Order: sequence, then structure tokens, then C-alpha cells
Amino acid sequence: MVSVLVQQSMRYFVTAAKGTEGVLRDELREIGVRVLRADRGGVHFDGPPVTAWRVCLESRIGVRVYEVLCEGEVRDGNELYTLARDLPWERWLSPRHTLAVGASARDGFTSHTQFLSQRCKDAVVDRIRDRAGSRPSVDLRDPDLRLFLHLQRNHATLYRDLSGDSLHRRGYRTHSTEAPLKETLAAALLRLSGWDRRVALTDPMCGSGTIALEADQWARDMAPGLDRGFGFERHLDHGDVAAHTLGELRRELRGRVRDEGPVIFASDIDPRALAAAHENARNARSMVRFEEADVRLMTPRAFDGAVVTNPPYGERLDGGLAFYRVMARRLAAMAGHTLTVLAGSPEIEQALEGEQALRSVARPHQVFNGPIECRVLRYRVPNRLHGDDPVVPTDDHSDERAR
Ligand SMILES: C[S@@+](CC[C@H](N)C(=O)[O-])C[C@H]1O[C@@H](n2cnc3c(N)ncnc32)[C@H](O)[C@@H]1O
Repeated sequence: MVSVLVQQSMRYFVTAAKGTEGVLRDELREIGVRVLRADRGGVHFDGPPVTAWRVCLESRIGVRVYEVLCEGEVRDGNELYTLARDLPWERWLSPRHTLAVGASARDGFTSHTQFLSQRCKDAVVDRIRDRAGSRPSVDLRDPDLRLFLHLQRNHATLYRDLSGDSLHRRGYRTHSTEAPLKETLAAALLRLSGWDRRVALTDPMCGSGTIALEADQWARDMAPGLDRGFGFERHLDHGDVAAHTLGELRRELRGRVRDEGPVIFASDIDPRALAAAHENARNARSMVRFEEADVRLMTPRAFDGAVVTNPPYGERLDGGLAFYRVMARRLAAMAGHTLTVLAGSPEIEQALEGEQALRSVARPHQVFNGPIECRVLRYRVPNRLHGDDPVVPTDDHSDERAR
């Protein structure tokens, strides 16, 4: 058991792809986090620092973990400067550290985000210079301390980024093909699918293997952050005691990883995609079974199971609706399977809706793959051996922000 660091409770905001806030909230609760509420673009929670470190290590869906440093009403740049300068920056960085400040603004006294980040940066470096005689420098690419200011109306919230690199960077995906899904979105898709982590899972259009690899890690309880470092480890307040506690936490999570997991099949028509997927699987120490195959010739390999996939769309796809119709026919022949499709084109939905054998089990759910609006479509293919079995309802996460 990890020893408890006696430190005050802080407030945090974990960001997530739009449309995945509800499944992030469920995931955080499972991790044991006291969730305050899901919001547009993320989830608020509170707790001691070790809770936030746990989220960095264990969340598959969260993208960045921000700690709230201060909040206040500001009417201009000078008031913002004063608000930021009053913070004890010497706790988090010294003149030897580097920093970067990002900003966003909505309906506030200015929409000039560069001005806002500059005022905050000035406040930090002026305070450190006054106390230590020299100032930290700015590094926009790889700073030790990354700050973020959000101005909503004239309410300013200043955060420090605990994650460092975005949490979708698990470390295993060194190779990718065209249009890879972010690991965090693949993890959200798996949770939306209702997969029980026991039956076989298939991705017949696997690309660089992200869905299959995320499924394998989730099923075997392999924490996604085990093989990477985090921003908070570079902050001045992360001393020996904190490093020891983090080490214990990592050991606890390593101890949970199971060697055995459900069978996971992944295939793609493109040998270059499969080569990338193989490399990534090696990095992830994964047991996914890869194969070069055309989804238009797919047949079931098990009596039941889950298919979770992200078909090609856009300019790179030859055939459009005709391709999707053949694909949909094959997917509808996967008797006894649940089917979850991340559809980046309305034609995918059109083709699937044309298949009589497919039973819709949840309303289409909107998510954003970067700027691309997609729909998560969920069906069940009745098992012919047992006749027309009843539709199995799954959790509906359509109303993300309400709960
Ligand atoms: C949107 S990408 C999937 C990306 C993947 N989720 C990832 O994270 O890398 C769609 C994939 O479908 C594959 N594909 C296209 N036509 C196919 C077919 N007929 N059979 C199997 N795979 C196909 C493409 O090669 C591509 O890798």
C-alpha cells in the first residue's frame, strides 16, 4: 500500500477529447478519485497530490492533468499580474528551471491570449528574480514547468500542468500509419463499447494497432503511464519523499499487471500498417494476434466477442459507400458479437443501418477525433444458434455533462 503524503487537498481538472468526458468520469471513479463534476472538455476532481499522480499513471482517457494554483476576478492585465505574482512560485521552480505559459480566453476583458500568457510569465519571473537574484528562462518546447491560464468572462484560473507530455503518449507507439487514433480516444471507445474485458476482441481495420493494444493493456490491468515520466517530477516541490511515494505507487501498479488476458485479434489490409502495429506491440509487451486480412472477407472466429473498429474515411478511401456496404455485410455476419464503430463519415452509418441483422443497442454518441466530428455506433449481432436473442442495453453516455 502506498504511504500517504500528508499534504493539503488540491483541486484538479483532467482534460479529455470532447464527447469522452462521461467515460472519463466513470474511469476516474473506478480509480478511486473523488470526482466533483464532468464539464465541457474534462472532469474536475480534488484530493491530495498522490491522487493526481495516480490519475497521471492510471487514466487511459485523460489527456492532461492540471492542478488549480489560484483563481480570481481580474479586470485588466495589471490585476492578472498581481494575482499571479502573489503565488509562491519559489515552491515550484528556481532560476535554473524553464517555464512556458499557455492561455485561453472567453468573453473576458481581452481575447489576446499571447498577452495573457506574457503577463503571467512576467509575474513568475519577476517574483523569482526578486527573491533569487536571477530569473528562470522560457522554453516553449520542453519546459520544466508548464502553466495554463484560462480567462472566462473576467474570472481567471491559473493551472500547473502535472502531466508534462500529453498522456496519450504512453511510449509504445513509435510507429504509425495514416490517421492513427490517439491512445486516449481508443481507450474511450473501448469503454463506450461496453466490452467486459473477458470475451475475444477484434479490430479488423487496425492500422497501427491502437485499439487492440489499448484493449490488451486495459484487460491485463497494465497502467498506461508505467513506462513514462510526468511533468510534476520536474517541479521543485517533488522532493525525495514525493519521489519515494511515487516509486511505491509505480511498484503497486506493476504488481497488478496480469500475464494472461483475453484473445485479441487485429488485422489490416495494408502490410505497412501491420509492420507498424507489430513494432508497437513489441514495445507494449503485448500479446495481440496480428494478421494481414481484408475486412470484406472477414468471418467470425468465436461464438461471441466484441468488434471495435475505426474504418477508413475521407480522401484516402477508394469506393466510399460501396466499400462500406460490403464491410457492413461482413460485420453483420459476426453472430454473437457486439459491434462498436467509430464512424468518421455519415456513409458508414448509412451502410450499417442498412443491415437488418444489426440491432442498435445505444444511441449514436458524438465524439471528436481532434477536429473531426465522429459518431460511435453500437450494435449487437444476434447469435443465430440461440435464435433472435434480446437486445442487451449498454450504458448510455450521450448526456455527458449532465451528471
Ligand atoms: C482510420 S485507419 C485505422 C487507424 C487505427 N485505428 C490506428 O489507430 O492506427 C483505417 C485502416 O483501415 C485499413 N483498411 C482499409 N481498407 C481495408 C480493408 N479492405 N480491409 C482491412 N483494412 C482496411 C487501412 O489500411 C487503415 O489502416
